[in-house]
Amino acid sequence: MAESMQGLKRTHRCAELSAANAGETVTIMGWVQKNRNKGGLVFVDVRDRSGIIQVVFEEGKSDAALIEKAAKLRAEYVVAVVGKVEKRSGAVNENLATGEIEVIPEQMRILAESETPPFPIEENSKTKEEVRLKYRYLDLRRPDLQRNLMMRSKVATLTRQFLADEGFFEIETPMMIGSTPEGARDYLVPSRLHHGCFYALPQSPQLFKQLLMCSGYDRYFQLARCFRDEDLRADRQPEFTQIDMELSFVDVDDVIDVNERLLAKLFKEVLGIEIELPIPRMTWQEAMDRYGSDKPDVRFGMELCNVTEVVKGCEFAVFKGAIENGGSVRGINAKGQGAMPRKKIDKLVSFAKDYGAKGLAYIAIQEDGSVKSSFAKFMKEEETSALIQAMGGENGDLLLFAADKNKVVWDVLGALRLELARQMELLDKNDYRFLWVTEFPLLEWSEEQNRYTAMHHPFTMPMEEDLEYIDSDPGRVRAKAYDIVLNGNEIGGGSVRIFNPEIQNKMFEVLGFTPEQAQEQFGFLLTAFKYGVPPHAGLAYGLDRLVMLMAKEDSIRDVIAFPKVKDASDLMTEAPTAVDQKQLEELGLEVVKEEG
Ligand code: AMO
Ligand code: AMP
Repeated sequence: MAESMQGLKRTHRCAELSAANAGETVTIMGWVQKNRNKGGLVFVDVRDRSGIIQVVFEEGKSDAALIEKAAKLRAEYVVAVVGKVEKRSGAVNENLATGEIEVIPEQMRILAESETPPFPIEENSKTKEEVRLKYRYLDLRRPDLQRNLMMRSKVATLTRQFLADEGFFEIETPMMIGSTPEGARDYLVPSRLHHGCFYALPQSPQLFKQLLMCSGYDRYFQLARCFRDEDLRADRQPEFTQIDMELSFVDVDDVIDVNERLLAKLFKEVLGIEIELPIPRMTWQEAMDRYGSDKPDVRFGMELCNVTEVVKGCEFAVFKGAIENGGSVRGINAKGQGAMPRKKIDKLVSFAKDYGAKGLAYIAIQEDGSVKSSFAKFMKEEETSALIQAMGGENGDLLLFAADKNKVVWDVLGALRLELARQMELLDKNDYRFLWVTEFPLLEWSEEQNRYTAMHHPFTMPMEEDLEYIDSDPGRVRAKAYDIVLNGNEIGGGSVRIFNPEIQNKMFEVLGFTPEQAQEQFGFLLTAFKYGVPPHAGLAYGLDRLVMLMAKEDSIRDVIAFPKVKDASDLMTEAPTAVDQKQLEELGLEVVKEEG
């Protein structure tokens, strides 16, 4: 039977107690982690969000009825204990923050009973994630998740403090809007009052924050929920949170400066880590050439090496064909992996194929200097030696090559580099390496749509010095866009915006928008720009990704209280769900049955 807490008031959280409280009478409230009954002596661990304290029910110190009551406690019962803090009579528990002390109870109330939970509430749970997500409220009791969510809260609070001190206003923008231009699919909300019309949930506050600059707010920020209907991965959720900001009368360096100081503050105050400023910068072109990625993990080397010139004259059809098609041949040197068994190399080949490669050519240099290779037989001996030399190949190294269009080669080797680093255990989660990637291409050719699309979004400012190519060679134009990358993760991105109508119109033209289409989609923004628009720029972080890395987790689900799974459903509430026929009728909707 549950008892009332009336008349009791909690004095401390469990792990706030220490030897300094010895002799005090305290009241704690929390969940039973476990109880051990040694016959007349019952040890009960009580847990709250601060940690665990041991309560000892002992003959001679507590009365018999109380000991009997303690013996009946089960895991996850909620209890209130009034008792005296004492230094432990037995051995100190080094694993527990409160390991030097225990509470000797005078009173205990059972505030709530609990059924046996579907999995034990403990650190590093081995229980399958699906089960934990179905009972997320229990999962959230586990200390690891509690630490993550506390860290997230701290990051949010510090961000607000810092940005407010820097003169930013926190302003909310609407959730029910027209479509935004971030390029993912929208989540739509049907309108009851306008049948056949839909709101879109924001993919980001992009247009609104630009309007706020037009309105003179100068510096805006928001911890903004964003919605994108895209394929989910470990670092992507259909709804996620951005630290979103926009600034007026600034250029790239101003945005970078304030954000470097924000990151330095967060890492210092949350993790005690000093980030060395300024954070290094690398152009997109250099990032692709050296790492095959626009979000390079620079914690380790194993850089790509362009060997197109070295293999140019050779007869190996794979290399020759790729070069003739305007592509390149590039390789990476997996140092010390020359003895990798054939089976494992074959796995790397199929890994490369998953990333679009037609194959993966290799040279495994043995310790005795002999060579095992998938293509040396197609090359002259001196060609192979020149290639090994160009790759810095030494005895015991494994050289891997991809030949194709640049984009494929970069994708394949960029991914392979990371895979090898994982296998070779080169990735240290305690090593935080930030990098700004700058000068992104303005446009990206879409084979699917047979036209250019904006790499960031259509309001991103081209670099002034490249404007002359916008008609003749649009693919060559670089943008005033930047991403902030941490250990191979894009944790944020932004750009300087176009505020000049001629450039904006040109941009729409290159993107294949007619003036009418541009007007229809973004008319309110274009009109606003007619009434005095300040130069402005901004950036948004993925808060979930940032906290994931700070918490050394592998998935953003571990830093989100109630995340969704791969198919975008919520295993606990079972959303999305079907709705009443009546609701559909009110909205003027009809569900079309899927065939089959
Ligand atoms: P962008 O689209 O690059 O830029 O988004 C900014 C950051 O948000 C994070 N992010 C995500 N996190 C979790 N799940 C997702 N599905 C997801 N999608 C993106 C990433 C990313 O770097 N309006 C612009 C910003 C600007 O130009 O100011 C924008 O939204 O960490
Ligand atoms: P093949 O002549 O097709 O047997 O290929 C010889 C070697 O080249 C094999 O190891 C293939 O995996 C590899 N290979 C094939 N296509 C490519 C490519 N586009 N880039 C790199 N290596 C390739």
